[in-house]
Amino acid sequence: GKGTYPYYMIKEIDEQPAVMRKLIQQYQNENGDLEINESVLSEIKESDRVYIIACGTSYNAGWVGKQLIERITGTPTEVHLASEFAYNTPLLTKKPFFIFLSQSGETADSRQVLVQVNKAGYPSLTLTNVPGSTLSREAKHTLLLHAGPEIAVASTKAYTAQIAVLAILAECVAKYNGVDSPLDVAHELGIIANAIETVIDDHEIFERLSVTHLSTSKNAFYIGRGIDYYVVMEAALKLKEVSYVQAEGWASGELKHGTIALIEDNTPVISIITDKVSGPHTRGNAHEVISRGANSMIISMEGLDRQEDAYVLPKVHDLLTPLISVIPTQLIAYYTALHRGNDVDKPRNLAKSVTVE
Ligand code: M6R
Repeated sequence: GKGTYPYYMIKEIDEQPAVMRKLIQQYQNENGDLEINESVLSEIKESDRVYIIACGTSYNAGWVGKQLIERITGTPTEVHLASEFAYNTPLLTKKPFFIFLSQSGETADSRQVLVQVNKAGYPSLTLTNVPGSTLSREAKHTLLLHAGPEIAVASTKAYTAQIAVLAILAECVAKYNGVDSPLDVAHELGIIANAIETVIDDHEIFERLSVTHLSTSKNAFYIGRGIDYYVVMEAALKLKEVSYVQAEGWASGELKHGTIALIEDNTPVISIITDKVSGPHTRGNAHEVISRGANSMIISMEGLDRQEDAYVLPKVHDLLTPLISVIPTQLIAYYTALHRGNDVDKPRNLAKSVTVE
C-alpha cells in the first residue's frame, strides 16, 4: 500500500535512492563486479547497431540510454518510438540488436515491434520491471529493473531504474569488448543514491516553486541541451500528464526557431543545466526568455551554478546527470498536480499500461 504517503507517485519518487542501491546489489557478483549474462554481451558485441524501442517515459529514458551505450561502448545506437517504428520501419543495419524498454512489459505498441523483430530473427533484450510480462517472455533476453511495483500512472522510479540498468549494461559490454569504461558505474550509482536523497530532502523548495509559478499557469516550458535535452523531454511529459499544464521540453537552441514566440509576461520557463559543454548556452537562452518577460527558474549542477539559480543539484558523474536532474522535475509535476487538486495517481484519460495500439 501507500503507507503514510498521500499518493503512490510521491512514495515512488521517494523510493528511488533505495532502487539505485538495490540495482548495484542485484547486478554485482561475489567479487563486487557488475555482471550480466554473457550471452547478452556477446550478441551486443557481434551487432553493428543497437535499436532502442519504447513509448512515453521509457522512450525518454531510451535517449539517455543511447548516450550511455555510445559513450561507454562505442556502439552506434538509435532510439525509436514503437508506434512509429511499427509502421515506418527505418532502414536497418546488417546486424541489429534490439532493446525494448517497458516498465510494464505489456505495452502493445512495443510488442508489435517485437513480433516483427522475432519474425525477422533479430536478437532482442527487454528491460522491464515485471518478470514474466509479455515483452519479457517474447524477447530473447530480459534484464529486470528491480524497482518494485510502480502503481502511479506517472512513471518515476522506472525511468531512473531504466537509465541505471542501461549504464550497468553499457559498462558490462565495454568490459566484455575489452574497452576501458569512462566510469565506474556501481561506484557512481552509490553517489547518486545519496544525491537523490539530498534533492528529495529539499522537496519544500520544489513545492514552493510549483505553487508560486505553476499552479495557475496554463503552460510551461522546460529547456536544456545535450543530455539535459533528454531530461526536459521527460520533465515536460511528467508535468503535462499529471498537472494538465501544457508543457513543452525543448532543445534550448531551438527556441529562437519558433517556440520563443509563445513567451509572454510570466510564462514559466525551467532550464536544466548539468551539461558542461552546452550549459552556458542554455543559460544564455534563459536570459533571452527573461528579457521577454518569462518567469525563469534555473536548475543547475554544482560547478555550473550561478547566484540566480533556483536550485543547485549535487555534483554527479557527467554521463549520469539525468538520474539526479529528473528528480526536481518529478517533484514539480507532483506538487503542481497536488495543488491543482488533481487525482495525482490516476490522471484523466490515462491507463497504467497501454495494452491497445
Ligand atoms: O510500461 P511501459 O514502460 O511500456 O509504458 C510506456 C508508457 O505508456 C509510459 O511510460 C507512460 O508514458 C507513462 N504514463 C509516463 O509517465
